[in-house]
Amino acid sequence: METITTSAPGKLMLFGEHAVIYGHPCIVAAVDQRIRVSTRFNGKDEVVIQAPQMGLDRYHKKISDLGKQEVPKPVRFIEVLLKNFHGQFVLEQGVEVTTKSDFSASYGFGSSAAVTVALASGLSKLKNIELTKRDLFKLCYKTVLDVQGLGSGFDIAAAIFGGVVYFFGGGEVIEELNVSSLPLVVGYTGIKADTPTLVRQVAEFRRKNVELVDNIFKYIEDMVKRARIALETSNWKRIGMLMTKDQMLLSQLGISSEELERLIEAAIEGGAYGAKLSGAGGGDCMIAVVDESKRGSVEQAIQEAKGEVVKVGLGAEGVRLELKDY
Ligand code: PMV
Repeated sequence: METITTSAPGKLMLFGEHAVIYGHPCIVAAVDQRIRVSTRFNGKDEVVIQAPQMGLDRYHKKISDLGKQEVPKPVRFIEVLLKNFHGQFVLEQGVEVTTKSDFSASYGFGSSAAVTVALASGLSKLKNIELTKRDLFKLCYKTVLDVQGLGSGFDIAAAIFGGVVYFFGGGEVIEELNVSSLPLVVGYTGIKADTPTLVRQVAEFRRKNVELVDNIFKYIEDMVKRARIALETSNWKRIGMLMTKDQMLLSQLGISSEELERLIEAAIEGGAYGAKLSGAGGGDCMIAVVDESKRGSVEQAIQEAKGEVVKVGLGAEGVRLELKDY
């Protein structure tokens, strides 16, 4: 039977986290670490999921039971996507799904979004259904909302479109930016952040301080717009400066952490143009813009501050077909 392998990239939020949930724009870059998903029909009435890196060995569920009963956390996005795909296009028989990731789910590179997008694309190819990038976005974003109840959809857009994307309004605007390269150093704090918890924490803070938080969001939007121009004109020094300013705004939202602050400070002392947290905050990764001549000293400073330097390239291709096997 035909096996289709598709892959989608992880992402790094460059500017605009949290504010994007409230209708402001953000800029996200796809990274050159991907999640691969193989799919094939199995002639049965159940789906079978193999995700060894997530501790899943032949998890199976009847097509008619998808999304029902207990759905274990590691399989949630895959199972709900299968359910939504079945709801829209009908799976006449079961599928065997196998996933393989280039990166650890701990970094916050958006493994759930990447696996959802790669699977949706694989299933549509198995069934010979032409889905536009927009159709794919709708199906996958619905899945994120069904699983998490919140999220802007920026990670889904990065996994589908790749490159560097200007995003807002739940996908109303998805613009692919023309960014030639971005000399970035990425440092992992060693702490896994829980995005929904941090999003709720910001919502709670906003409930008590609406004016203050909405003002912070307006300043963040201003940073995003300036950063867009600086990115398109390769003005690394300016991007660094904007990152450091943005970081101050994000700490006012209460989402930075001791570890993030330590790595950010180390990167700047090591000679970076600027640095900030990336994503929900509370842990995961920080990013720093550097002149290539300073890369070594910035990486060393991050390591001395007990961070793990994660080597990633930016602007990777969006979801794609890897292999068709018979
Ligand atoms: O933690 P991450 O990398 O998934 O980023 C979350 C970014 C938020 O704006 C906080 C949430 C969202 O869905 O936009």
